[in-house]
Amino acid sequence: MTDTTTNPPTTTNSGAPVASDAHSQSVGADGPIALHDHYLVEKLAQFNREKVPERIVHAKGGGAFGTLEVTEDVSAYTRAALFQPGVVTETLARFSTVAGEQGSPDTWRDPRGFALKFYTTEGNYDLVGNNTPIFFIRDGIKFPDFIHSQKRLPGSHLRNNDMQWDFWSLSPESAHQVTWLMGDRGLPASWRHMDGFGSHTYQWINAAGERFWVKYHFKTNQGIEILSQEQANQIAGEDADFHIRDLGEAIDRGDFPSWTLSVQIMPYADAATYRFNPFDLTKVWPHGDYPLHKVGTLTLNRNPANYFAEIEQATFAPSNFVPGIAASPDKMLLARIFSYADAHRYRVGTNHAQLPVNAPHAAPVNSYSKDGAARYSFNAASTPVYAPNSFGGPAASAEAAGDTGGWESDGELQRTAATLHAEDDDFGQAGTLVREVLDDAARERLVNNIAGHVGQVTIPEIKARAIQYWKNVDQNLGERVEALLATRELDAAAAPPNAAGLNRESESDVALTV
Ligand code: HEM
Repeated sequence: MTDTTTNPPTTTNSGAPVASDAHSQSVGADGPIALHDHYLVEKLAQFNREKVPERIVHAKGGGAFGTLEVTEDVSAYTRAALFQPGVVTETLARFSTVAGEQGSPDTWRDPRGFALKFYTTEGNYDLVGNNTPIFFIRDGIKFPDFIHSQKRLPGSHLRNNDMQWDFWSLSPESAHQVTWLMGDRGLPASWRHMDGFGSHTYQWINAAGERFWVKYHFKTNQGIEILSQEQANQIAGEDADFHIRDLGEAIDRGDFPSWTLSVQIMPYADAATYRFNPFDLTKVWPHGDYPLHKVGTLTLNRNPANYFAEIEQATFAPSNFVPGIAASPDKMLLARIFSYADAHRYRVGTNHAQLPVNAPHAAPVNSYSKDGAARYSFNAASTPVYAPNSFGGPAASAEAAGDTGGWESDGELQRTAATLHAEDDDFGQAGTLVREVLDDAARERLVNNIAGHVGQVTIPEIKARAIQYWKNVDQNLGERVEALLATRELDAAAAPPNAAGLNRESESDVALTV
């Protein structure tokens, strides 16, 4: 009930009071609406512009704020201020599914995004990772094709298992990540109950200028919990926002989720002679070779006050490094370093970094960028707009930036996937995961999940290639998938078709195990 003594008056966007929330201005009670009812026009026009384009991938997600607290001393490996002992840094995390659109269910089988923005005293550092330590491809030039195969057909606008298995089976480097995805970890019970990984190999540089290769691991302190396929299917129908709700409610009740951050550290020189390419994103570094070094704790303790302003408009970019942290020769990472900032200029706008959620919170910005749509912050009029200058404007400092990282490289420009290390293969680590990491029950679920998914492939050549793909991962696994598929096809053929000529019963059987 409106109480004019306590409710503030509604205003236009310019702050002037408006006369009615409910009635447009018309010529007489039933007459035409006046074009000069500028408040009505403003309200409708603003409404039409409420959305920005959704992220081309990772469109569905949610997030929260918190801190990274460094409890150990890793200063021998990096000079980055945020990783010095005892430092506490404000952090934003955003979790997401990859292929689904903004309204899609949180419990579809998919990797989950694990994107972090650290508001450090040396500028913002973004670590844009996933809940998996590996990825489907090893060269960014394939990323648009990979994503197209996971999204929708151009005609029917349906997702399509033929496309997915066609791409995967023609891209054998995907085997490790697809094995992971079809296994238990492909359906986390919540974002709180999954691990996070930087996935790529990054470079750390210490105060003396020594370089190291590192991989980040965020181990959930809530413990790993997963959903069965049946649970995930049911939740997808009943509560598409299950994971957003879970995170928000946990933080509201003071049950703050946390992760222990550790890193694997490889001495710089080891990379050249390691048994496989340590910059290949389809591989993990076995912990026996490079153990985890604990760094600190990530805790999420504050829900966003406004989803659109603080989560939808948040922009995480692998190009946001700080002194002491740099890229590696991972071709995927190098492609991403271009891709995200470009996406942000398109999706949110050229001045996206000025929005409160994206701007540094603990470091000044002294850049020479100016103007552009929706410019909000600006330098004093006396600050020069060019460099170099004689008027005391900002001056780049090699000392402040420190060693910005690098590696030796020479050779002719080429397009190659040359294998220079002894174990640079596609299927080896996927096979090890199946044989040595999974137990019998997990292997059984994996066989079922694969058969459910491959069972929806309609083109025999693609199905045969998919079965061979699994035999290449592990002969026994592939044979079990093949046998299960054959049994299901026999069952389906034996079941009487319904009136429409479709075997609905077997379709739903398959759907339950996808
Ligand atoms: C989002 C491109 C690989 C994790 C995005 C976005 C683009 C993109 C354009 C949307 C950005 C936005 O609109 O804000 C690419 C390309 C890749 C690649 C070109 C390969 C070369 C990866 C890998 C990971 C990853 C390997 C994880 C290790 C994410 C996450 C998000 C995202 C977590 C969502 C970030 C957020 O929450 O805003 N990617 N991606 N991507 N990507 Fe990638």
